Amino acid sequence: MKIAISGKGGVGKTTLAGVMARTLGERGFKVLAIDADPDSNLGGAIGFTPEELKEAVPLAQMEEFIEERTGAKKGQYGSFFKLNPMVDDIPDRFSVEKDNVRLVVLGNIVQGGGGCFCAENVLLKSLLSHVLIERDEYVIVDMEAGLEHLGRGSTAYIDALIVVVEPGQRSFQTAYQTKKLAADLGIKNIFIAGNKVMNNNDLTLIKENLGGLSLIGCLGYNGKVLEADRQGVSPYDIDMQIRAETGQIIDNLEKTIE
Ligand SMILES: Nc1ncnc2c1ncn2[C@@H]1O[C@H](COP(=O)(O)OP(=O)(O)O)[C@@H](O)[C@H]1O
Ligand SMILES: [Mg+2]
Repeated sequence: MKIAISGKGGVGKTTLAGVMARTLGERGFKVLAIDADPDSNLGGAIGFTPEELKEAVPLAQMEEFIEERTGAKKGQYGSFFKLNPMVDDIPDRFSVEKDNVRLVVLGNIVQGGGGCFCAENVLLKSLLSHVLIERDEYVIVDMEAGLEHLGRGSTAYIDALIVVVEPGQRSFQTAYQTKKLAADLGIKNIFIAGNKVMNNNDLTLIKENLGGLSLIGCLGYNGKVLEADRQGVSPYDIDMQIRAETGQIIDNLEKTIE
């Protein structure tokens, strides 16, 4: 299954992506986790140490490699470069692996003016397409709200887009915009996951603001998630509740999507 996770900044995309990856790894699946948020911190949420993360160099920073594969110099606009660079070897070469979970970090593209049709962007999009279309592991992509890295050709391969919301209007608005973007991109299965749910009122608020999408599950507001961040570990390693809730989301997904 190929799963993309989106939502407003701070709602808990990375937390959910990290714990989902670990849960699937624990269940015996090979998981490819792609950090596609420019503010890359999925590695920590999965439970990789800073030392281990040195192996997962953000691809956008590898200027020479981008140049080698695309034939373009970084930041040089208007120059010619390949639109189909070779990317097949990247997931195994530039990643770090532990407990069945392999992490690839895309990194931050410095946008050059209106819309970025630069070589870095082409490489990252090609990689994401490759991963979605060709790789046979479970794929989890931690995205930004805008779905920028998704190319039209690959979105048909996304089995589920999970939009994370917290009990609050701002994250609902982002979810509605994401729903539109996703529909334009041809993504079929879009779900809401609630996070930071404190009580039944929060749950009701989320259910009343699904905007026509279905709720795939919820994570409660959880002090252990904050504690994990303080300690620099994954919530998966210090909390049973988030494991159970995330396991439920995965079960629901597997039931819903065939
Ligand atoms: N269920 C939760 N309970 C309490 N805090 C949470 C929960 N989920 C996430 N957080 C906290 O919210 C902040 C943003 O989470 P993060 O997963 O980084 O969001 P995003 O990737 O959407 O920006 C972090 O400080 C995280 O520890
Ligand atoms: Mg994040």
